[in-house]
Amino acid sequence: MKKVRIAIFASGTGSNAANMMDYFKNNDTVKIEFVLTNKQDAPVSEKTIERGVQLITCSNQEVDKLGFILGLCESKNIDFIILAGFLRKIPTDLIQRFKNKIINVHPSLLPKFGGVGMYGMHVHEAVKKAYETESGITIHYVSENFDEGQRIAQFFTSIQKSDTPQIIQHKIHLLEQMYFPFVIENEIKKFNESDIINL
Ligand code: GRF
Repeated sequence: MKKVRIAIFASGTGSNAANMMDYFKNNDTVKIEFVLTNKQDAPVSEKTIERGVQLITCSNQEVDKLGFILGLCESKNIDFIILAGFLRKIPTDLIQRFKNKIINVHPSLLPKFGGVGMYGMHVHEAVKKAYETESGITIHYVSENFDEGQRIAQFFTSIQKSDTPQIIQHKIHLLEQMYFPFVIENEIKKFNESDIINL
C-alpha cells in the first residue's frame, strides 16, 4: 500500500518537527521522508538526526531559487509539506504545485497577530501588549500571502494578566504538541481515503 510521504520544513528549536516525527514513527500509512532546514546549526537538525530521519540542509539562496525545493520534493514523491517554524518565504512554484498540500501552524488566532514580522516571540509579545485574554494556534494551508491561506483548525488558551510572553509561548507550545499532528493526520485522511486504512 502506498504511504503518504511528508516533508517537514523547520528552522528553529524543532519541538513541532520532533513531535511529528515521534507521532508518525512506524506508522503504517504515513512516512516522514525528510526534514529540510535552512539553518544547519538549529536544534531541529540534531532532533532529526537523533530520530534517524533524513536531514536536508539548504541555504536561503537555494530556498529562494525557483525549482530547487520543488525538484527536491518531486524527486522524493512528497505528498504533503508541513511547515513547523520555517522562517523563509515559500517559493511560489512550490505553493502552486502543492496547492492545499502545504500546512503551517501559526502561534496566534489568525487573522490576529499574523503577517510579515509576526513569528516566534514577536507574536507573544504583541498578544501581551494588546491585553488579550486569550490566544491560541491556527493550523492552515499555505497560500502566496503570509498567514492568509484557508484555515483548517484553531485551538484556544486563556491568558492571565500576569502571564509573560514566555508563559504565553509555553501555553501555545502545549497546544501545538497536543493538536498539530492529529490535525495533519485528519487532513491526510481526507486527501486519499481510498489509499489509507486504519488512520
Ligand atoms: C511554533 O510556535 C509555530 O507555531 C511557529 O513556529 C514555532 C516553531 O517552534 N510556526 P518549534 O521550532 O517547533 O519549537
